Amino acid sequence: MSFKIDRSRPGLVVAVWKDKLDHVQSHDFATGLSARLEGERFPFEVALAPGMIALREVEAICHPAGVKICGQNVLWQAESGSFIGETPAATLAKAGADYVIVGHSERRIVFGETGEMVRNKAAAALAADITPVVCVGDTAEEHSSGGTAAAIRRQVEDLFLGLPPDLPPSSLILAYEPVWAISTWRTSSPLPTGPEVESLHLLVRGEIEKLKGADFASQLGLLYGGSVAPDNIFEYFRQSEVDGALVGGASKTLDSFWQLLTEARRAAAD
Ligand code: PGA
Repeated sequence: MSFKIDRSRPGLVVAVWKDKLDHVQSHDFATGLSARLEGERFPFEVALAPGMIALREVEAICHPAGVKICGQNVLWQAESGSFIGETPAATLAKAGADYVIVGHSERRIVFGETGEMVRNKAAAALAADITPVVCVGDTAEEHSSGGTAAAIRRQVEDLFLGLPPDLPPSSLILAYEPVWAISTWRTSSPLPTGPEVESLHLLVRGEIEKLKGADFASQLGLLYGGSVAPDNIFEYFRQSEVDGALVGGASKTLDSFWQLLTEARRAAAD
């Protein structure tokens, strides 16, 4: 059986709090996590993705402990303009964001974000020296009708065909999140097993390879997301094509997230 993170690729676990934790809860989580991390080592990066109101406060607590900060959203153009309610990438960078999630299924489906907007958000993040974590995924219908490869192809084409061709693979991260496995959208389909995630990641890398070549595809960090929890992360992290995880529901409490991190570490050492 293979192991988990390929050392030549980045490893990253992100707690994606969405709108679930307010700034007081975010503060308490960040403080608790920083305390637990003292003297601990993980063979991957750990990041928190707080809501915008809490981001600066969480950054001040967590960066000294080595925890990375991830924005949940960013304005789709590099220059600020007249976009009430939006946060430009430069502002996120100034607040200390290392990463920002773009193309999340909730943004694509609920807020109608197009492939072009996702690409422009990724480009805006890159221009501000923030690493975009670009989510791609297939819906339940695409999954059940054999349309997974076509859905992924469309999303990676939308992304890569509009970004600079010489972009190094280390400048961004992809997250494969099957929409049917994310807690928000979950249907009665069973969650994929570790080997199923492995073959889905190979499919995603295969589509990227067609556009960017084998070296780029094999060097790109590829996270998995969709109901990742303390009781399944071990199996997912044992897969060689899984470089990390986006964690929603199981990151809402510190105990659950900590258990998940230690299980991921156990898989890495296995
Ligand atoms: P989940 O969320 O872990 O609750 O399924 C993941 C996500 O929405 O990115």
